[in-house]
Amino acid sequence: MKKVAVITGASAGLGLATSILLAKHGYQVYATMRNLERKAALLHAAEATQVTVQLQQLDVSDPTSIMQAIDIIIAKEGRINILINNAGAGFAKGIEQVTEADMQWLTDLNYFGVVRCCKAVLPHMRKQKSGHIINITSVGGLVGQPFSEIYCASKFAVEGFTESLASIMPTFFGINISLIEPGGIDTGLAKSAAMSTLDSSWLLDEDDEYALLFRRYLKRFKKRGQSKADAAISQQTPQEVAEVILAVINQDDPPLRIRTSEWAEDICRFKTAADPDGKQQLADVVKRYL
Ligand SMILES: NC(=O)c1ccc[n+]([C@@H]2O[C@H](COP(=O)([O-])OP(=O)(O)OC[C@H]3O[C@@H](n4cnc5c(N)ncnc54)[C@H](OP(=O)(O)O)[C@@H]3O)[C@@H](O)[C@H]2O)c1
Repeated sequence: MKKVAVITGASAGLGLATSILLAKHGYQVYATMRNLERKAALLHAAEATQVTVQLQQLDVSDPTSIMQAIDIIIAKEGRINILINNAGAGFAKGIEQVTEADMQWLTDLNYFGVVRCCKAVLPHMRKQKSGHIINITSVGGLVGQPFSEIYCASKFAVEGFTESLASIMPTFFGINISLIEPGGIDTGLAKSAAMSTLDSSWLLDEDDEYALLFRRYLKRFKKRGQSKADAAISQQTPQEVAEVILAVINQDDPPLRIRTSEWAEDICRFKTAADPDGKQQLADVVKRYL
């Protein structure tokens, strides 16, 4: 019987690439997206690879949409083996320019979206006594970076939530929990994050202290993507990251956390050197508390 994999944010980037790769490897893929009008790229990729994916509307910011989607999938398949919480957005802005609406939107999408989908799927996985939840964070979930306070905080939140969940789920309910921590991925996300503030008036002000720093930041960021050598080191294709996800879900004893490239490993090294996959810390927590 095919394993059923549900992937959020599958209209583009990593979610799309992961949907196609998993379908290619025999998974019954539910590629979900908030707006089904954005399905063309996924369907085109599925046709080109000669795989079938099931489409399902799911907006991670809308609890009703999540519950409806999970109910539909369970009614059709009777199980969900893999949940990949991938939907998310990037964001880069000076903290004093960040608005209340910015904070609410990004935290709701990047953090609460993950919590909501886990809550919706866990009762089914508990009943099955099996399953694997994969939460896509970032090196920004381990290492704070300039002009990314709100983004990094949302990913740190997912890391903390996931670590806590992992102290119970594998040991007591047979449900595996993993964090995927990519560095740069060549998708629309990074570019749109950096560019989204370019038309902001504070950025055009020569005397604004943040503007000066932000321009420096942007220059370094653009440079990273321009030289082929730099881009090859610091940026992965979505397909490369999808291969890491596939390798993790195929493991019997998967890591709690994994970086997806040498570059990602290097930037996190001061945080992760002692316990790269997070399993020792997890075992210690379980021993202390349960
Ligand atoms: N790109 C990077 O450099 C990078 C690095 C580290 C981690 N990541 C993480 O990787 C994940 C995937 O990002 P990506 O690089 O593939 O970005 P992307 O190409 O911009 O794709 C983001 C996906 O999330 C979807 N999405 C946005 N809001 C949603 C909502 N409310 N409900 C459901 N789906 C929603 C988008 O759908 P629409 O098409 O409707 O907008 C799109 O399918 C994110 O969690 C991101 O933080 C990315």
